[in-house]
Amino acid sequence: MNSTTVSSPPITLPALPYDQNALQPVISANLLGFHYGKHHKTYVDTLNKLIVGTEFADMPLEQIIKATAGAWNHTFYWRSLKPKGGGEPPAALKRLMESAFGSVEACKKELSTAAVGQFGSGWAWLIQDGEKLKGVKTGNANTPLAQGVRVLLTIDVWEHAYYLDYQNRRADHVNAVLDKLANWEFAAENLGRK
Ligand SMILES: [Fe+2]
Repeated sequence: MNSTTVSSPPITLPALPYDQNALQPVISANLLGFHYGKHHKTYVDTLNKLIVGTEFADMPLEQIIKATAGAWNHTFYWRSLKPKGGGEPPAALKRLMESAFGSVEACKKELSTAAVGQFGSGWAWLIQDGEKLKGVKTGNANTPLAQGVRVLLTIDVWEHAYYLDYQNRRADHVNAVLDKLANWEFAAENLGRK
């Protein structure tokens, strides 16, 4: 077996599509060897340890990413809601909302716009990017989690999240969630600490 492809099954460390010295001088063979042989390999090895003996063991990596992102998004979504939610966010979160959007209402409007503007299935997110709060949307099972930003709150806008109660009135559902169910305490707990 070629030493560059050694990894425990089922997920394998793929062979590089070129020699380790082929990207010089931009990326030295030493740097590439370290990046690929140590860092990339560690990700693969860790993943294999996690999935051994599970249903993920036989899945292609792409399918594992989709399945785990969908599971993580939903776990985070349930915690983003609470009975008798909405209302006044905790002070630290409120201050950040005001500095980013102008007001709590404007923050909710931003989230609502992201949720309604997501074409097809997806998610709306309140995220903290550095010091700044933002409202963003992702399609399908995508999550901003892997993009290095801090995720504070999410709203599921797949049709299955609202259709039985609201049919095609996604905006009504999203606004009701923001007004009456948003768990701002949970969002505040997710804020980055300095
Ligand atoms: Fe969902």
